[in-house]
Order: sequence, then C-alpha cells, then structure tokens
Amino acid sequence: MREQTIMASSVDEVEIQKHNDLMDSWWSLDGALGVLLLFNRVRIPFMAEELVSSGKKLTANSLKGKKVLEVGCGGGIFTEEFAKLGAEVTGVDPSPLLIALAKEHSKVDERVAANKPTYLNTTIEDHSKQFPNHYDAVVASEVVEHVANIDVFLESCVAALKPGGKMFITSPNRTRLAQFFAMVMGALTVIPMHLMTYSKFRKLDEISAILKRNNCRVDKVKGLFYLPFMNKVFSNL
Ligand SMILES: C[S@@+](CC[C@H](N)C(=O)[O-])C[C@H]1O[C@@H](n2cnc3c(N)ncnc32)[C@H](O)[C@@H]1O
Repeated sequence: MREQTIMASSVDEVEIQKHNDLMDSWWSLDGALGVLLLFNRVRIPFMAEELVSSGKKLTANSLKGKKVLEVGCGGGIFTEEFAKLGAEVTGVDPSPLLIALAKEHSKVDERVAANKPTYLNTTIEDHSKQFPNHYDAVVASEVVEHVANIDVFLESCVAALKPGGKMFITSPNRTRLAQFFAMVMGALTVIPMHLMTYSKFRKLDEISAILKRNNCRVDKVKGLFYLPFMNKVFSNL
C-alpha cells in the first residue's frame, strides 16, 4: 500500500491547465484569483506569527533565517509576501507557465527583487526527494482541492519538512455552504465555475487523518469566509 502511494503522482494535468488558463489575469485584483490577494491580508500575518511567535509588527526581517517552501505557488501571490518578510522562500509548481510568470513578477516589487524567491517547475514528490527534512515551514494554500492524490501530496510535503517544522494548509471545506459561496456565488462574479470541483474539496478530518498518519499533530484550525459579491474575507485568524 505504501509503495503504491509513493509511486503515484499528485498532479492532475486537467487542474494544471485550468490554472494556466488564468495566467493573464493571475495578479489582477479583479481577476478570478484576485481572492488570493485578499487572502494574503489574513493568511500572511497568521502564518508569519505562527513561525516566529514575536507578537511584534512584521518587518522585512521578521522571517530572516526561515526556510519556507510554498507548494503550488502559481504566479507567486503568496510566495512574494514571505520574501518581503525576509524568508528564504522557494516556490514549486507543476506548471512551467506559472513558474515563468512568478519569476517574471518577482522583478516588479523591489522588496521581492532584493530577496528573490527560488522558483522551480517541479512536483512536490520530486522536490521532497531532493530536499528531505529541509524546510522550517511548508505551505500548501488553496492547492489540496486540485491534486490527483492527496495522500501522496501531503506525504511528500511532510517529507520536505525539518523535524519539528510547521505545515500550513488552506483549503475550502467540503460543505454545501462552501460550495455555494466559492462555486455558485463565485461563478456569478469572476471565479470560473469549473475551476473547483466540489467532490475534490476535503473535510478537515480527512486532512487531519492523513497528517496524523505522517506523524504530524494538528495544532490549530481556523476559519475563513469569503463573500464574492462584497469581495470581502472574514476570519477568526
Ligand atoms: C488556486 S492556485 C493557488 C496558488 C497559490 N498557492 C496561492 O495561494 O496564491 C492552485 C495552484 O496549485 C497548483 N497545483 C495544482 N496541482 C498541484 C499539485 N499536484 N502539486 C503542486 N501544485 C499543484 C496549480 O498549478 C496552481 O498554481
């Protein structure tokens, strides 16, 4: 069983193509992925504080010395923010087009250009074999609902973590409420209906069970609520 898991790929090419199709509007606040820019306002301070526990205002040095891997980085919306906070950040994505976009975009903001992320067009399966036990933190934000095999995906993410490192996962819950807001209301605004597949949404206990099988303890669970028409995010982070 374990061998089968290791042999399988986490990548679903149809999902990669769906994201490639959004390349031109990736960084647009009004585009289909503009919501990721909104998410940054809550996910970045939360994760950064979890990593350094300083209680202080975040600065360009807050994450200095921290090696962080973002898996499924796309065009770099999350990755760039951690670079601005001083992390040594690597972004991997199976899409060569999105990695090219991320590299190009890392020249735009001088704070990012001064601490450029390393962007690699690879899978987490391959990357974790090359860099086992390497990162202080691994981030998989809005990705697990797109992978072909979540067991392989999470097992590989954990393999890239240093012992005692932290893993951050964000993903829509498999509830009818999340389906209604993310998919139905989303489709009435800018998010293409086919971008997400309800049956691929994961329940918290499913993700927790896989993490536990990989010797991880779930520390914190937080909620985030996106209202497409108002383009607002509410959270208890
Ligand atoms: C919704 S985007 C999220 C981008 C980024 N994580 C963020 O939050 O700003 C999903 C990304 O996951 C990538 N992806 C899909 N399947 C993947 C897999 N099996 N392994 C790694 N990345 C994957 C896609 O290419 C796309 O860039």
